[in-house]
Amino acid sequence: MLCAGVAPTGKVLGIDISRAHVERARQLVRERGLQDAVAVEVADLRSDLPVEEASCDVVWMADVLYPDAVGDSEVVVSRLSRLLKPGGAMAIFYGNWLRPMYLPGYARLEHLICAARETVYARERHWQGQTHPERALGWLQRAGLVSCRPEIFPAVHRQPLPEEVRSYITAVSLGTHYARAVETCGEEVGMKREDVELWRRLSDPRHHDFILDQPDYYCLAAALLVLGFRPE
Ligand SMILES: C[S@@+](CC[C@H](N)C(=O)[O-])C[C@H]1O[C@@H](n2cnc3c(N)ncnc32)[C@H](O)[C@@H]1O
Repeated sequence: MLCAGVAPTGKVLGIDISRAHVERARQLVRERGLQDAVAVEVADLRSDLPVEEASCDVVWMADVLYPDAVGDSEVVVSRLSRLLKPGGAMAIFYGNWLRPMYLPGYARLEHLICAARETVYARERHWQGQTHPERALGWLQRAGLVSCRPEIFPAVHRQPLPEEVRSYITAVSLGTHYARAVETCGEEVGMKREDVELWRRLSDPRHHDFILDQPDYYCLAAALLVLGFRPE
């Protein structure tokens, strides 16, 4: 996507702190024949990056500005904003996976599960209020960027669900993320035994109440992209 945006002459530099992730990214770059346009390096967002100041048209980050990973996100955003050329854009993407709708018709149950999930994440990630990725708009504004705005990118799926969507929601969204939240913090956020029983019926692919098997099933999630621009 970023390559398409800079074609035919622009360059993309991807960075990640994980050597394994960088190796995997380099493999994908080779497989797709993008070596001329894309380089991938190991680097830590908390330190100086191998990039000159005022040299980038776009700085893009996706689901990485979490306090446990980068420390103070506002400091990182401020430092990265100096890499932008005048008029350049910073884009912070956040999957917003704490506010989806995978259980249409069971809003109370899903609110409880999402509250449990947020409880788990807030503890692991140490985020709340200004350190939460939902507050990226203020980080951009306080870094001196202008025309800052949040945008949403909705993903909607309905029956018949494509197989990859069905298996992802079944195994990952419900089977891993929601299940772990129910298990770890369900009781703490007020789930009662009947809530847990209802959750199990709706989320178990072997149960005849499995929600993804209902002929009118649909789901939606709205990812968040926050943009800001270095003044000209
Ligand atoms: C949730 S993943 C998102 C990966 C990718 N941006 C995407 O959207 O698919 C977070 C990534 O941030 C990387 N990361 C964590 N802390 C970092 C840091 N301090 N500097 C650079 N990368 C970091 C992790 O290694 C991981 O690959």
